[in-house]
Amino acid sequence: MDRRDFIRGLAATTAIFALPGRGGAVAPVSDPALAAFIRGMPKSEYHVHLEGTLEAEMKFALAKRNGMNLPFADVAAMKASYIYHDLPSFLAIYYDGMKVLQKEPDFYDLAYAYLAKAASQNVIYAEMFFDPQEHLKRGVAMADMIGGITRARGDAEAKLGIRSQLILCFVRDHSAQSAMAALDAALPFKADLVGVGLDSDEAGNPPEKFREHFAKARANGLKVTAHCDVDQTDTLRNIRTVLTDLKVDRIDHGGNIVQSPELVAIAKARGIYFTVCPTFSGTLRRTEKVPVDVVRAMMDAGLKVTISSDDPAYMGSEYVDDVLIRAVERSQLTRAELIAIARNGFEAAWLPETDQSAMLARLDAYVKAA
Ligand code: ADE
Ligand code: ZN
Repeated sequence: MDRRDFIRGLAATTAIFALPGRGGAVAPVSDPALAAFIRGMPKSEYHVHLEGTLEAEMKFALAKRNGMNLPFADVAAMKASYIYHDLPSFLAIYYDGMKVLQKEPDFYDLAYAYLAKAASQNVIYAEMFFDPQEHLKRGVAMADMIGGITRARGDAEAKLGIRSQLILCFVRDHSAQSAMAALDAALPFKADLVGVGLDSDEAGNPPEKFREHFAKARANGLKVTAHCDVDQTDTLRNIRTVLTDLKVDRIDHGGNIVQSPELVAIAKARGIYFTVCPTFSGTLRRTEKVPVDVVRAMMDAGLKVTISSDDPAYMGSEYVDDVLIRAVERSQLTRAELIAIARNGFEAAWLPETDQSAMLARLDAYVKAA
């Protein structure tokens, strides 16, 4: 495959989206009324890595505050280095970037900035990932990570009206022991967590490596979700494992499921919601002769799709509005499908049903009035 076909790391502008990328050429938005409808719509987001919202400007500010030197002359040079061609090459940039996060106020600033951005796009509810093992190994205390993020969640809800919850992700390419140590360090703060997830490099790190971790999390009242990034080795085997063995409550990405009618049937029977991120994983390529649009194929298969931004700071600073607007065009979504995706976004919430219903009512009122 032509390496340029994979380039998704974005420089300062979004113009690169016009280049052939993983999802093919993306046309500019041609329906301003639809774009305005999406921007005004009450929304949710479930697949956003807080460390993936660490914008270059904030990296410089935190580095200065923490007395660190970064190997880039300026923001433009840093953004120009965000060039990757697959999951491991993306992760290398992402993990390197998060080293500036050292103290409680750093986690506060990171989370508050994301929540402010999301609130400005009418996101009324978000569930956000963080990767504690990467910070623990640098000596950051769990109390500082969860404390800073929780403080930001409280302030953002009070000042901006955006509600949010936090999901601890196990970094699957670290050892099972390190993941268990992270969970144990987090459990004293479990009231500030809603669930656990599984992210990072899937190759050689199948979900069953974390069976005990998921069981312990569940026993402590936490929900569980897992990344099944697209086109990974053994992807269908791993999707089966998370569905039938780990019995996750949601799947992050998971697009290859459309290649197995049997797994599609299991996911439907279990009412599984998928958090799809078309900017990063919008097309099946490696496992298909002809590229397949993930959102289109999942909608056609009758799966419960939600749409998120994943790591927007590394993906052209495109937050959920932009991602949804592009999805409508690239996946040829009808207005009814768009609204169904937005409704899924509240039905998937790890919240009491009454809270879900209140959010759905806000969405329905908006659609009715539009
Ligand atoms: N960590 C941050 N973003 C990720 C993604 N899309 N897949 C796996 N791990 C991640
Ligand atoms: Zn992700």
